[in-house]
Amino acid sequence: MDWTCTLRGPAETRELGRRIGELVEDGATLALDGELGAGKTSLAQGIGLGLGVGGPVTSPTFQLLFVHDDGRLPLYHADLYRLGDESELTELGFDEILGQSGVSIVEWASRFPQVLPADRLQIQLAYEGEGRALTAKATGPRSQRLLDGLRA
Ligand SMILES: Nc1ncnc2c1ncn2[C@@H]1O[C@H](COP(=O)(O)OP(=O)(O)OP(=O)(O)O)[C@@H](O)[C@H]1O
Ligand SMILES: [Mg+2]
Repeated sequence: MDWTCTLRGPAETRELGRRIGELVEDGATLALDGELGAGKTSLAQGIGLGLGVGGPVTSPTFQLLFVHDDGRLPLYHADLYRLGDESELTELGFDEILGQSGVSIVEWASRFPQVLPADRLQIQLAYEGEGRALTAKATGPRSQRLLDGLRA
């Protein structure tokens, strides 16, 4: 079952991200979608906080992938917006990381659904008034445990 919530401002986006970062299990993939400026990177920043990442979590739009390995689990933060084709992910080695080790956050994930692991938490962000609406859907047991934790 999908889970929906309203995020009234950037602080609420980060706070939900922080909870995800505290609950998330090793090997998890978070597939983020939503139009430009919907809050994907803001959510990733909160996840970094929750994982205890020290450095700033910034947008990987131009670098495609940022790795933060000073938190509870390694954080791999990718952005597929400018990705030309799948082979670029192979060059980055990201295809071997996704769903295997650490926590992978993928912005614009639905551009390349074929590269995503079967079990992922799919998060859709949408503009809603001054804030954002978030819809989350689990596609396997690991993402379902995370979603159950968020609901609780
Ligand atoms: N719940 C919210 N309500 C209102 N504004 C928000 C909310 N969450 C984040 N924002 C703001 O939206 C702007 C864009 O956020 P962010 O960069 O996270 O979006 P994005 O989806 O990653 O964009 P892009 O598609 O360019 O990667 C930021 O100014 C951020 O503070
Ligand atoms: Mg972004």
